[in-house]
Amino acid sequence: MTNTFRPIAADRLPALLAAMPKAELHIHIEGSLEPELIFALSQRNGIAIPYAGVEELRRAYAFTNLQSFLDIYYAGASVLITAQDFYDMAWAYLRKAAADNVARAEIFFDPQTHTARGVDMATVIDGLHRACADAQKQLGVSAALILCFLRHLSEEDAFQTLEQAQPFLDKIIGVGLDSSEVGHPPEKFARVFARCRALGLHLVAHAGEEGPPAYVWSALDVLKVERIDHGVQSVRDAALMQRLARDRIPLTVCPLSNQKLCVFPDLQHHNLGRLLEAGLVATVNSDDPAYFGGYINENFTQTFAATGLGATQAYQLARNSFEGSFGDATQKQQLIDRLDEVFAKFE
Ligand code: HPA
Ligand code: ZN
Repeated sequence: MTNTFRPIAADRLPALLAAMPKAELHIHIEGSLEPELIFALSQRNGIAIPYAGVEELRRAYAFTNLQSFLDIYYAGASVLITAQDFYDMAWAYLRKAAADNVARAEIFFDPQTHTARGVDMATVIDGLHRACADAQKQLGVSAALILCFLRHLSEEDAFQTLEQAQPFLDKIIGVGLDSSEVGHPPEKFARVFARCRALGLHLVAHAGEEGPPAYVWSALDVLKVERIDHGVQSVRDAALMQRLARDRIPLTVCPLSNQKLCVFPDLQHHNLGRLLEAGLVATVNSDDPAYFGGYINENFTQTFAATGLGATQAYQLARNSFEGSFGDATQKQQLIDRLDEVFAKFE
């Protein structure tokens, strides 16, 4: 892919970033739960949360690392009880995604956060899946679900979760691995991922967010994942960078998340441009937009403003998002054609 674009005026770049169709490949649906909805569900379900109101909760969103975020993120998710709750959360995200010209969303969910509280797997998947189906019909957004295993829990817990998901495998396209990274290397889930692979599920894993390049290697070689979520630490290992480029392994990068969790001191120092220069299939995503200060277009506009990336990189990132998606070849080509049409209008 060698498209380059005439420099477009800096003041038109935000409009281009917003208008271009894109896929979002790294969004935790529980991380799209806005404080207003947390309080509404807390009231609806009679579940107390230890914050006086929306403003106090938002003020608590001052994170120092991944774990400091996860503690609040799991507390926020505790208000989700019924299938309608899961539907409302996912629908709110999908409407925002549609407004950001997301044409395809591959959505993570963390069932163990809910089943551990006595919420059935069926409840979780029913609500999320209905929202995805409605998104296609009412918003024209193609949406699919990826079940994530929590890596701070045991292999046995992950196997039990897979067992509970077995009746609903037609409603998920793959599995992922998230939560506390350091101290929980991918190898811990080698057998679970082998089973999922045998079931024909797509495989992804968070690796190299805070953890070392070794975790990216083992996600690739032991878990045999098709995409790496985050992966920004890969730049510390030249051989790994070559491997990622050679095999065209997509990296689902989340710049505002990395800034908020202090993975980089600020957006100016983010390595997205370096990943693209090295020929990697990098993409831009929002991770947990309700917690990190913005949805996907906000990630694009803030990162481009801070790092000086331009139209050529915008095109590459959007195109990478379609190439890296798990949609079929026809859908990918249709979305790339739409992308080309939007860029042609801006030239
Ligand atoms: N990393 C790991 N686990 C997560 C994240 C993340 O960025 N967001 C939600 N769970
Ligand atoms: Zn994530």
